[in-house]
Amino acid sequence: MEQLLQQIEAYRQEIGSTQPDGAEALEAYRIKFLGTKGIVKNLFAEMKNVPVDKKKEFGQVLNEFKQLAEAKYEEWKSHTSGAQTSDGPGIDLSLPGDPLPLGTHHPITLVRNQIVHIFGRLGFSVEEGPEIEDDWHNFTALNLPENHPARDMQDTFYIHQKPDWLLRTHTSSVQARVMERQKPPIRIICPGRVYRNETISARAHCFFHQTEGLYVDENVSFADLKQTLYFFVQEMFGKDVKVRFRPSYFPFTEPSAEMDINCRICGGSGCNVCKHTGWVEILGSGMVHPKMLENFGIDPNKYTGFAFGMGIERICQLKYRVNDLRLYSQNDVRFLRQFTGAV
Ligand code: DAH
Repeated sequence: MEQLLQQIEAYRQEIGSTQPDGAEALEAYRIKFLGTKGIVKNLFAEMKNVPVDKKKEFGQVLNEFKQLAEAKYEEWKSHTSGAQTSDGPGIDLSLPGDPLPLGTHHPITLVRNQIVHIFGRLGFSVEEGPEIEDDWHNFTALNLPENHPARDMQDTFYIHQKPDWLLRTHTSSVQARVMERQKPPIRIICPGRVYRNETISARAHCFFHQTEGLYVDENVSFADLKQTLYFFVQEMFGKDVKVRFRPSYFPFTEPSAEMDINCRICGGSGCNVCKHTGWVEILGSGMVHPKMLENFGIDPNKYTGFAFGMGIERICQLKYRVNDLRLYSQNDVRFLRQFTGAV
């Protein structure tokens, strides 16, 4: 028993006077003292040889020694994480790296970028305008004077403190801003966010995204409008897409037309998205109203133009088969992650 206690004391001193230098020495220490055939284990094995009345005392000494050996090991280990460099603890290059979550583009961004790219190939450049707009650019300049009944087509958010200000209801306001400062030829698309006072549901939202398009030059015809938009939907949805134009009314275009494509969700057999008609409206368009050109000092006898406005969510819905508009603004990563790597 005395002999064992002396031995433990010697080991204590050994531990107290040495410090393993580097990972290998530390491992050697662990094996020597704490390993399955190590000193601590062997000392515990001696327990059975200790006389019964001494067992308690010996057990206590032994436990303390074990705790010391383990504590020292943990202490040294925390200083010796991996390869040592002359500057101190280094990096263990053999450890697996921390996973970096891959970000995704929002589906609206994906579609917006694609629209910009397709029209870019036709020579359209991107213009942007403010989301807080004045009445003139959002309505009056677009041939929608005060009290014009068509103003009711869009439920506008007005800004109380500034009666002349509002949240733009469409990206058509950017047309006005561009024609104000630029003379033909003009060939632009204007993607951006717009606002309308609508109750939020699967089919409507109080804010959404549009892309406006405007082309003003000499000899621009309705045939150019049709061909440009047909090219666009073929690039966006594939060559098999079918289109149809329906006469419509917009104050800033004459004649005006809405364009439908055959439903990409059900293929035309009828579903909720196409309201069982097989067709889905994707944009409004028309020849720029001569009055609007005049508003900006552009001679309507010399220049003509076409314009169009489309909802980005709608395109996105058809392309990615999303049936609830609310998903676009809920920031649910389970939804957003599905667009990783999508183009
Ligand atoms: N601004 C219209 C809307 O938000 C869409 C639109 C229709 C834009 C015809 C145009 C156009 O440029 O020519 O409903």
